[in-house]
Amino acid sequence: MGGCFSKPKPVEVKIEVVIPEKERSKEEMSPNGKASPLVYKVNGTARHYHLEEHPIASNPYHNPKDVVEASVCHVKDLENGQMREVDLGCGKALLIKENGEFYAMGHKCPHYGAPLVKGVLSKGRVRCPWHGACFNISTGDIEDFPGLDSLPRFQVKIEKEKVYIRASKQALQTQRRTKMMAKCISLSNYNLSSTNVLIVGAGAAGLVCAETLRQEGFSDRIVMCTMDRHLPYDRPKLSKSMDSHPEQIALRPKEFFCTYDIEILTEMQVAAVDIKNKIAVFKDGFKMEYNKLLIATGNTPKALSCKGKEVENVFNIRTPEDANRVVKLATSKNVVIVGASFLGMEVAAYLTERAHSVSVVELEEVPFKKFFGERVGRAVMKMFENNRVKFYMQTEVSELREQEGKLKEVVLKSGKVLRADVCVIGIGAVPATGFLKQSGINIDSKGFIVVNKMMQTNIPGVFAAGDAVTFPLALRNNKKVNVPHWQMAHMHGRIAALNMLAHGMEISTVPYLWTAMFGKSIRYAGHGEGFDDVVIQGDLDELKFVAFYTKRGSRRWLLYNRMTSCVETLRSDEVVAVASMNYDPIVSKVAEVLAAGRTIRKRDVETGDMSWLTGKGS
Ligand SMILES: Cc1cc2nc3c(=O)[nH]c(=O)nc-3n(C[C@H](O)[C@H](O)[C@H](O)COP(=O)(O)OP(=O)(O)OC[C@H]3O[C@@H](n4cnc5c(N)ncnc54)[C@H](O)[C@@H]3O)c2cc1C
Ligand code: FES
Repeated sequence: MGGCFSKPKPVEVKIEVVIPEKERSKEEMSPNGKASPLVYKVNGTARHYHLEEHPIASNPYHNPKDVVEASVCHVKDLENGQMREVDLGCGKALLIKENGEFYAMGHKCPHYGAPLVKGVLSKGRVRCPWHGACFNISTGDIEDFPGLDSLPRFQVKIEKEKVYIRASKQALQTQRRTKMMAKCISLSNYNLSSTNVLIVGAGAAGLVCAETLRQEGFSDRIVMCTMDRHLPYDRPKLSKSMDSHPEQIALRPKEFFCTYDIEILTEMQVAAVDIKNKIAVFKDGFKMEYNKLLIATGNTPKALSCKGKEVENVFNIRTPEDANRVVKLATSKNVVIVGASFLGMEVAAYLTERAHSVSVVELEEVPFKKFFGERVGRAVMKMFENNRVKFYMQTEVSELREQEGKLKEVVLKSGKVLRADVCVIGIGAVPATGFLKQSGINIDSKGFIVVNKMMQTNIPGVFAAGDAVTFPLALRNNKKVNVPHWQMAHMHGRIAALNMLAHGMEISTVPYLWTAMFGKSIRYAGHGEGFDDVVIQGDLDELKFVAFYTKRGSRRWLLYNRMTSCVETLRSDEVVAVASMNYDPIVSKVAEVLAAGRTIRKRDVETGDMSWLTGKGS
């Protein structure tokens, strides 16, 4: 591991640096008001000690007026393994009892605000019921994603069999806590072409990597670059809340990046990587050295290749501008969506209330057939049809016709001609890795960067993460897979950062995905690719169901056959993934079972015997 990542020795070289008075008082103070010594480096730059060198004893309760203390229940009111939302007068907390101990922390998930009391408590952590983020009950720290922030943790005391919670009013109100990060001060006259960690891509994977480096005390230079013109934003919202402005969906405000000295170069495209000299070459010729490199470039939407593909008002949805423009053009007009993908269907759902008509064109006979199976796909299709969406299945587009340069009609191979003022393409994506072709970095036949469990590529010091990679998924016997989910990109970014710092951390997470249409969400956990069968409980017509995806397992079970008096070996079918609608928190429960390494057998879910949920099953 390169020198800049090793723990710095205590100050040996001290160079006097003049810090403006205002800056000095702000930056030199640790949260408890005590001076935090700066390390001065040979080149005259200054930084704080790594957190491990100089732990900051944080006292969140400076002023008694900022604190509230309340008796919330009797010790016997909660059983072990139970959670309860409790009101402290000026805000709520989540009270948890596990193994006879009480814990209290924020009650709302910092991602989209789900009530965590409806989530799943399991072995020291709570998993959110909506999209699967996990929080440690002792520290409030986020341990699995999505979301960037942790939960505030509150003090609990027991007196005369009563449970008291003591909490800062501010924390009760904000319900979130940014994990402690090392702060850096940009005093240096940087040599603009050199850097320590270069992160190509400012999506979820890139941002989490940068934040994790700072959380772990890495205090040297971090540069992120993006082709976007915006700071990192919540990409999944582009198809669910299409008229959001970039600042409404920003993941962090601008000040955040200044405070933690994470530099972002916007509208900058890396065109090549020279791994021998550790240099990234940008499209405009600018070159930047790196010590460690993360490639988190995501993917590029596929375009149509038919006649007329260049006409105006045909869109892919990749940026807030794309989404905003489509909403504007689609209002009271005819919209054609090509591809019943997650993106296509979410856009169709969003536009139905605004557009005059919405049509979906798809090659398969049922939407999501490969992902959710035919029965779930049909139920979803019915929901769309009930909301005025027209489907044109088992056909594709042969031509886009224009009038005065603007889209007027979409012609299908079936011969049907659809009136169209706007067309949105949702036919999938390819990894954005073309610029690495000559680099020597291992790319597979589909263009994905191949990484190991530590998110390392074949080139030392070069890591990759997010939608652009294939990685070994523990859940599927380390099969190399590509999992293009928001949660997974966060986790990849974290693992990559930890391994840049030589933590030797391997990825171990259960993929978790969601999609939202007409105010309803489908949640999904696991990896169901190539499933053999689907077991459904609940009612598909009522859109209240859980679907278990099963596959012939690799484990062998020994069974005694009474008829032949022989012991036989059997490979049983196992649940590899689960999807649900209006059935929370089943998906989070299954994710916890799978995360614990337990097997759920097909016959368990077929019989409706739910003992596997509580750990009493296999
Ligand atoms: C509209 C939409 C809706 C979605 N909804 C959901 C959802 O509901 N649930 C879910 O789980 N997932 C969803 N996803 C998928 C999710 O957004 C991705 O899995 C996630 O964004 C991947 O993160 P990433 O960091 O790998 O890449 P991205 O977020 O795609 O970021 C890639 C970054 O790399 C930059 N870049 C690319 N090439 C270069 C280059 N050569 N030089 C410099 N920079 C470069 C880009 O500008 C961008 O900053 C959705 C995706 C889209 C597009
Ligand atoms: S609201 Fe909790 S993970 Fe999204």
